[in-house]
Amino acid sequence: MAQMTLAEKIGQLNLMAAGEGLMTGARQPTSLAGRLDTGQVGAIFGTKSLATARAMQERALAGSRLRIPLFFAEDVIHGHRTVFPLNIGLACSWDMDLIAATSRFAAAEAAAEGLHQVYAPMVDISRDARWGRVAEGPGEEPLLAARIAAAAVRGFQGKDPAGKGRVAACLKHFVAYGAPESGRDYDNVSLAWEDLLATYLPPFSAGVEAGAASVMVAFNAVNKLPMHANGPLIEGWLRAGTGFDGLVVSDYTGVAELVAHGLGPAPVAVARAIHAGVDMDMVGEDYLRELPALAKSGVDAPDAGISLTGAQVTALVDRACRRVLDFKQRLGLLDDPFRGMAKTARPPARGRGRALARKAAASAAVLLKNDGVLPLAAETRVALIGPFAADRANMLGTWAVSGRAEDVTPLGEAVTALTGQVPAIAWGANIVDEDWLVQRLNVHGVTVRQDPRPEAEIMAEALATAGQAEVIIAAVGEAKEHAGESSSRLSPDLPAPQRRLIAALAATGKPLVVVLFAGRPLALGAVAEQADALLYAWHGGVAGPEGVADLLFGAANPSGRLAMALPAHPGEVPLSYAHEPTGRPFPGHFAKFRTGWLDMPDDAPRFPFGFGLSYGQVEYGMPQLSRPRALADRPVTLRINVTNSGPCEVVETVQLYASDPVARITRPGRWLIDFQQVTLPPGTSRELRFRVTSDQFSYPIAPSLEGAEWVRDPGLIQLHIGPNSRDTQMAELTWLS
Ligand code: BGC
Repeated sequence: MAQMTLAEKIGQLNLMAAGEGLMTGARQPTSLAGRLDTGQVGAIFGTKSLATARAMQERALAGSRLRIPLFFAEDVIHGHRTVFPLNIGLACSWDMDLIAATSRFAAAEAAAEGLHQVYAPMVDISRDARWGRVAEGPGEEPLLAARIAAAAVRGFQGKDPAGKGRVAACLKHFVAYGAPESGRDYDNVSLAWEDLLATYLPPFSAGVEAGAASVMVAFNAVNKLPMHANGPLIEGWLRAGTGFDGLVVSDYTGVAELVAHGLGPAPVAVARAIHAGVDMDMVGEDYLRELPALAKSGVDAPDAGISLTGAQVTALVDRACRRVLDFKQRLGLLDDPFRGMAKTARPPARGRGRALARKAAASAAVLLKNDGVLPLAAETRVALIGPFAADRANMLGTWAVSGRAEDVTPLGEAVTALTGQVPAIAWGANIVDEDWLVQRLNVHGVTVRQDPRPEAEIMAEALATAGQAEVIIAAVGEAKEHAGESSSRLSPDLPAPQRRLIAALAATGKPLVVVLFAGRPLALGAVAEQADALLYAWHGGVAGPEGVADLLFGAANPSGRLAMALPAHPGEVPLSYAHEPTGRPFPGHFAKFRTGWLDMPDDAPRFPFGFGLSYGQVEYGMPQLSRPRALADRPVTLRINVTNSGPCEVVETVQLYASDPVARITRPGRWLIDFQQVTLPPGTSRELRFRVTSDQFSYPIAPSLEGAEWVRDPGLIQLHIGPNSRDTQMAELTWLS
């Protein structure tokens, strides 16, 4: 750094997109090529091939006086070329080894393309199914999300992000991006500091503890301060608080967006972002444009609350540049700019990835209902009806930027490959009714095809097809672009034409299995009653339909558990099992005067957090505590017997929740403190032991972020153990002070 000029240091902070359809060598678009030739780029994302990355690296080295290499990044959200189920689906597996394995495989594919960093894991907690990006995230629960964050970081980075087949992880989006007002993407967030500390930040601390080498900042404001200018959270909580010493990158044009947030004109926005701790500026190039003058003359903007001398700005540039170089050093690039980019670099065997993807798809799907119709015998004649019965592209789900639709085996073919039967297939219904919505959904390519025939004709064909079968399988749900970035939905339910289809199929009286392919938890309403069996398959990736076929025909046993509750009605969101009690609980004794909805029946079918069925039957014994009273520094053991009394092997996820009936403030109704996953062969029992410690019950009291204090009260704690957040048994424990 001592040898670097100010311009060279600022160049390191510039993070550029490779651009669509980019050509290698001299045919790069001039802006990027020109920047590379003059040492004005620190990193590039979206190169899409090893040859492109190599060509850009060569060009960057030639354009950099001190031959400082670039690093290359990509959105590897749920797989790279081998697309795994959406992250919300992976979260439903509750299987940390599986999540680590999918991340490891994705890292190996990415590294073989010359990539050094992935913009993952996305660890935004969300309790609002309207928000489209729930698809990319770990769901509603902080402990589950924290374990997922750690598992994914382990998978991506291994012991060393510079190791062979490894990449640097990037925890995103820091922070509370999953709680935007009314579920609208990018919208701001107002929440109690207690919620921020106890719910939204834990996955980030867990990811940092697991060694995550970088963090991406969120677009939204948190309690009025946009995250790209949020020094108290970035330099404060993240760096000073957790000891994070990696790289902080902006989100796409996030620095420039501070202007629209109302934080000042571009120079002020830049000063605020770099001062807050945003080290690299993605795409906007505002650092590149504004920092030279700011480093010379400083900034004095009392209306925006920032005043820095030129020397102070220069010191901030140094700080950010050092972090970029440290990151490159950690990736081994300062020793070898082409590390991992040998022309002979080979991705891992695709077949291995497919097998993992198929297992992951079966583990991600959640069986919500089964009136005895599943599993099907291989010879059961089935009809596959619905817009996703023969679909490839939508199965990849959102943010599968390196996936290919032709890699997907559609459901019909998967059923044939597994059972030998060729099922009758009918389109059944258009995905949505509205033409204008079809235009929007097709913004990234055509994933929504509409049948121009009148609905009566489409439906008549569907019913005729159903008539030939013994069991109807309805393949319905959301298109790929229905969920994901900028895909918030006003009403997260199954689109109307598909609801009409289900009602008509149910009216035939034939056994009806509904398979939902979706990017978010959809309110199922009447569909939950009309279906005889209900399998929530998310968008399962390249082998999604094969995983579904395995479950339908009993080649795999369902084990997924909801990582996010499914409401009965879309108006219920945001929704969480951890909802705090009110003075008028729901459901109460009074028909009307309680916390709830006047216009929704109390027995409307909801599926709670942690819920999921299998083809087995697991019985829970009574939980036993090693002692009912304990000193706060002494762990207690909770033991429980689980028995598989069913006919097949099951994977059971035993969940332990707690509630604190008396506290200084209102606490969640219950919250997850631990879980264990066990495989139980038929007819076997296992005793599980949970170590319970008093830290699991500490909580923040936070009049402000800086004034937050974590407290641990003596007194009664209720422990609830069971197969989901609702159906639990209780043991009481008293902590002595
Ligand atoms: C998203 C990020 C993503 C980035 C780069 C942004 O729009 O919010 O999650 O990593 O683009 O593609």
